[in-house]
Amino acid sequence: MQTSDNNQIIINVTNRYTDLAVSSNDCCGEESNGYANNSPEYPKEELVTLIPTVTEVSAGCGNPLTISTIRPNETVVDFGSGGGIDCFLASKQTGPNGKVYGVDMTPAMINLANKNKEKLGIQNVEFIENQIDQTGIASESVDVILSNCVINLAPDKSNVFKEAFRILKNQGRLQICDIVLSGNLPDEAITDDNWCHCLSGALLKADYLESISDAGFTSVETISERVYQPDSEHEWMKSVYSISILATK
Ligand SMILES: C[S@@+](CC[C@H](N)C(=O)[O-])C[C@H]1O[C@@H](n2cnc3c(N)ncnc32)[C@H](O)[C@@H]1O
Repeated sequence: MQTSDNNQIIINVTNRYTDLAVSSNDCCGEESNGYANNSPEYPKEELVTLIPTVTEVSAGCGNPLTISTIRPNETVVDFGSGGGIDCFLASKQTGPNGKVYGVDMTPAMINLANKNKEKLGIQNVEFIENQIDQTGIASESVDVILSNCVINLAPDKSNVFKEAFRILKNQGRLQICDIVLSGNLPDEAITDDNWCHCLSGALLKADYLESISDAGFTSVETISERVYQPDSEHEWMKSVYSISILATK
């Protein structure tokens, strides 16, 4: 089976993450109370500073904050910010004179993230409802872009990396965790549902890294790789894994 066209993918993904925002189910097949609560990549001492409506909708595949250090006063943008987990943790690192923007296209996620922000009393985070290939953020205004398990969901990854390059300052960093493939998926795995679950929209690792370089990034480094769901009943799941990447403009 083949997946829908780009407009339909955006609609399907928005519907999927609307459901997550209202039901607090996890996206990526880990335990059901949120990725961060079940991942050693998120230290418990950081999670206790948050609230369940942040951690329980966490749907990442790594922790982009571990890739490089965010410095005080920096401007950070999180592509596909969901319930806001990485924005809230980043805002502690930028300090009150830094700024963190979360961009997400799903209105229910933006609504949830804004409620979470209010409950946490955080001032220096702002959520923007937009697609990540058209953020509306000024060119060359950002020090760091984060993204956690999102770009695989976008229909056109190269436009996302071009947008990241456009808004980053010179020497700005792209710190992303995402799902990539070590081999092409069989036709039966390529479905709309698997796209929404961060599987069939994923690129081969080499194509993913090439797309970042093609957008203009001078240095593209793989920081870590991790087998994603080794216990799956599907043989093809062995080709799916998560990756952490640091790229510099
Ligand atoms: C798998 S969740 C990850 C959320 C968050 N990064 C986290 O770690 O919890 C994907 C999020 O990206 C958003 N998203 C997916 N595709 C997008 C796109 N093309 N533009 C903007 N947001 C998108 C979804 O609405 C959803 O909130």
